[in-house]
Amino acid sequence: MLPSRVSLVDVGPRDGLQNERQPVAATHKIELVHRLQAAGLREVEVTSFVSPRWVPQMADNAEVMAGIHRRPGVRYSVLVPNLKGFEAAVPTQPDEIVVFGACSEAFSQKNINCSIAESIERFAPVTAAARAAGIKVRGAISCAVGCPYEGDIHPDRVELVARLMHEIGVQHVGVADTIGVGTPRRVQAAMERALRHYPLDEVSGHFHDTYGQALANVHACLQMGVHVFDASVGGLGGCPYAKGATGNVATEDVVFLLHGLGIETGIDLDALVDAAGWISGVLGRKPVSRVANAVLAKRPTAEAAA
Ligand code: HMG
Ligand code: MG
Repeated sequence: MLPSRVSLVDVGPRDGLQNERQPVAATHKIELVHRLQAAGLREVEVTSFVSPRWVPQMADNAEVMAGIHRRPGVRYSVLVPNLKGFEAAVPTQPDEIVVFGACSEAFSQKNINCSIAESIERFAPVTAAARAAGIKVRGAISCAVGCPYEGDIHPDRVELVARLMHEIGVQHVGVADTIGVGTPRRVQAAMERALRHYPLDEVSGHFHDTYGQALANVHACLQMGVHVFDASVGGLGGCPYAKGATGNVATEDVVFLLHGLGIETGIDLDALVDAAGWISGVLGRKPVSRVANAVLAKRPTAEAAA
């Protein structure tokens, strides 16, 4: 039995744009969020409160958060690596924060400059402070299948990080295939380990599509009853500390799959494709998404460019 309804978290404004070399104006980021919520997205990962030296593209975090016209019922989340980031994020009123850890020591060092154990020590006070302030806390478990530096990752590592996150009070975990090397059985094994510490309602899949396996991995997780997935409009993105990794699975592609399976998302595919076409135009390229390109190709040229 597949779930009858799935929630998609569009991480395009954050994961999608964080690695973009060219400057992207805050006004464009804000408009992207507006287009996503107008298309029916109810969860958007807007930005990250990380060091601007490490990720310059996210330096306008507060400006972007301040510029959003919030819709009731939409959850706006931000990434936070430490207390400094949390303190900067709080005045911008996120509904949810995301702490991000990894299954591999090497990736943890490259991405957040500390060991896995140190990252958990940093996340503990952040999680406590967020929960005391009524802000939900998600944890991203990076490199849940493979690491750009250490290669294949054993599912035991996923279980370890899920357990550590659970112990410090993180309320939800996202099993992330950072470099998109996962295939369905391996992703199921990773997800199964997270499910030993979290209920089905509090796990999600976050799949980069580097090797074209992300949709298959979404389907494999649906078969386990998982019903929350991250995805990125237009297939934008990549992680600056995972060389060669491409963007998340495109939100349009996941929506097309889900609607085809008779699963509700509350998302208007045409409006989402418009958003994908628009942001890709801003960046001067075509969407990576197969579905966006197929839908746009059927439209009159002027409309596709709008
Ligand atoms: P560090 O250099 O070890 O930090 O970086 P530090 O505590 O030693 O401080 C050094 C300087 O950074 C100080 O400034 C701090 O104030 C400043 P100075 O006194 O030298 O002028 N600083 C900060 N500034 C702004 N915001 C902050 C902050 N913290 C310290 N929050 C740190 C450690 C974690 C900050 C750094 O490594 C960092 O920012 N890393 C973020 C990397 C990142 O954003 N990666 C991409 C997101 S993760 C991802 O994409 C994966 C995911 O999608 C899931 C998946 O696909 O796997 C989530
Ligand atoms: Mg990611």
